[in-house]
Amino acid sequence: MKSCSPVDSAWSPEVSSLKITPEIILNMKREGRRVPALTAYDYSMARLLDECGIPLILVGDSLGMLVLGYPDTTSVTLADMEHHVKATARAKPKALLVADLPIGSYSDPESAVRSALRIVNAGAEAVKAEGGLSIIQQVKAIQQAGIPFMGHLGMLPQHIREEGRYRIKGRNEEERKALINDALALTEAGAFAIVLELVSPETAAEITSRVAVPTIGIGSGTQCDGQILVTQDLIGAFPWFTPKHISPRIQSAQEIQGAVRQWMEDLPGV
Ligand code: KIV
Repeated sequence: MKSCSPVDSAWSPEVSSLKITPEIILNMKREGRRVPALTAYDYSMARLLDECGIPLILVGDSLGMLVLGYPDTTSVTLADMEHHVKATARAKPKALLVADLPIGSYSDPESAVRSALRIVNAGAEAVKAEGGLSIIQQVKAIQQAGIPFMGHLGMLPQHIREEGRYRIKGRNEEERKALINDALALTEAGAFAIVLELVSPETAAEITSRVAVPTIGIGSGTQCDGQILVTQDLIGAFPWFTPKHISPRIQSAQEIQGAVRQWMEDLPGV
């Protein structure tokens, strides 16, 4: 396994010493650079990732499952997000720090701006919310309030209760067209990047070729401009559930448990 150095073909040391802004992320597409992105929910993980030169860190509402022990993201509150954004922001990352607006916090433009301001006051530099045309007034209001916005299309985890299961989006013509229209609308509204979660690789490639902003895929094939992962999935730190699109690079849960067992065995007098 390589040591922690910036991803050679995707990122370069001279760029990773800069404070990353939404404009830099946006320009990475024009410059033909891939955009690697990972999640962090606290100070130490944000610091570790930042020291690797990752350009974008997301405080995702996936913290509902990974940190808070919920079955999905639908119980995460704005207060939960603020708490974890504050912890993550204390790492003062050079990476752009983006955070999710949780479910129910952006139902209309006014509440979207109020919630986005709380997240930014907690230390995030941009917010992400799920949806395209259905939330476009909220996206415009957030942008008008001067807060950079990152889109999220495809499988929308905050809708898991209506959907019933996680599934690939964009396989049929109706979904393909809707996703393309959503992506174009988000771009038009000023989003600086769009996460594509569980979008069929063909549709993800088409969106990527049609929008001027970077697409950042998760389980959406290899043709997106960047890739985002939940860090615990990348490092095998949440062994109770591994999404289908993930091949952990290390099995850190086993390493941790091995260290704990060994330490207990080695205790004097035990
Ligand atoms: O909440 C999250 O971690 C996310 C990523 C999976 C994109 O939205």
